[in-house]
Amino acid sequence: MNRNIRKLINEMHDQSKNPICAYIYDLAGIQKHVSDMLRTMPNQTNLFYAIKANPDKRIIQALLPLVKGFEVASIGELIKVRDVSKSIPILFGGPGKKDYELEMAIRENVSYIHIESLLELKKLIMLAKNSRKHIQVLLRINLRTKTLPKTKITMGGRPSQFGIDEQLIEEAISILKEQENTHVHLSGFHFHSLSNNMEAELHVEMINHYIKKVNMWKETHELDIKVINAGGGFGVSYDDSPGFDWKRFTSLLAQSEGLQNLGETQLYFEPGRYIVADYGYYVAEVIDLKMSEAHCFAILRGGTHHNRLPASWGHNHPFSVVHLARWSYPFQRPEITNSKVTIVGELCTPKDRLYENAEVEKLRVGDAVTFMKSGAYCWTISHHDFLGHPHPNFYYITEGNHYE
Ligand SMILES: Cc1ncc(COP(=O)(O)O)c(C=O)c1O
Repeated sequence: MNRNIRKLINEMHDQSKNPICAYIYDLAGIQKHVSDMLRTMPNQTNLFYAIKANPDKRIIQALLPLVKGFEVASIGELIKVRDVSKSIPILFGGPGKKDYELEMAIRENVSYIHIESLLELKKLIMLAKNSRKHIQVLLRINLRTKTLPKTKITMGGRPSQFGIDEQLIEEAISILKEQENTHVHLSGFHFHSLSNNMEAELHVEMINHYIKKVNMWKETHELDIKVINAGGGFGVSYDDSPGFDWKRFTSLLAQSEGLQNLGETQLYFEPGRYIVADYGYYVAEVIDLKMSEAHCFAILRGGTHHNRLPASWGHNHPFSVVHLARWSYPFQRPEITNSKVTIVGELCTPKDRLYENAEVEKLRVGDAVTFMKSGAYCWTISHHDFLGHPHPNFYYITEGNHYE
């Protein structure tokens, strides 16, 4: 773990008499990472950030000058982006869009709405006509294919609530071509078939498959396709296995047949996890260390109500211990050395586990357990108010290792 993070945790500790419980987001790290990502991206490819991974305002602000735009999946997310910029391009997706969401998306001039069903398309045609505003859409397609990479989460290539089944494309296009439709225009297709894919080669293959399919539909239905949105899904490893190799991905993509066949079409990516996961830290102080039969448990000021990812995915979340000096009690400080310990939270449920049987060299009550890779789908997906414990503090590292 980075020296600055340790220093910051020590400073937090010095400044408060209460146990540490905090998220640290390294904004400068995110900006450098995204600049590096952009450097290797081929022509005609564009990077959006899916804010569902972490909609923190400071992160959106940090990314604003770098990305082409943001992907949002609700009105709440749309407002968060518009709060930061009135003009940055927005892609509005997600299943089950309500009329008021579609109306607001039209009003807020989103660049593209991702259409998730035929009913949604019909509703939008009606609403756009009533509002007399023109709106561009991408049809989100659930492909009938068995060739998608196998990952922890798949949204496509099998029955799912996401997108329009490939067999229904013809029907969707004929709805768009009906006379009734005066204001909704088809600009392309959207695919987001999986999450956390680690294999650069398979990702390129998948995108090539998307491009091939779109080119086929383009010819069959005589479409003018401006955009193919290939979604997110670039993987982050939460154990020792290698994560997604972006450089390899972009280099293979640049040489791929799909890219040569793009014509004038732009290719969009809208990752979330890969952009922010590595730049968030969840820090929680050890409140108690106790034995239950032969098992040792470390109980934290915090837990899965702040970081639900390990419980949601059933994984052990990588952490590092920051040793803190303060011990103000008149009795001996509990400690374990070269032992196994299960790291749990402060909730009244056995599901509140962040790491099962971790090997630690030394862990004491009052030390800070710092969970790395907590920048994506950690705070956001957690049940913050279960049991009513106070929320964590939030700190931000900015350029020059300043923090706020
Ligand atoms: C439509 C859509 N796009 C992009 C993303 C971001 O995916 P990831 O964080 O895996 O890159 C998601 C995540 O669920 C999604 O549903």
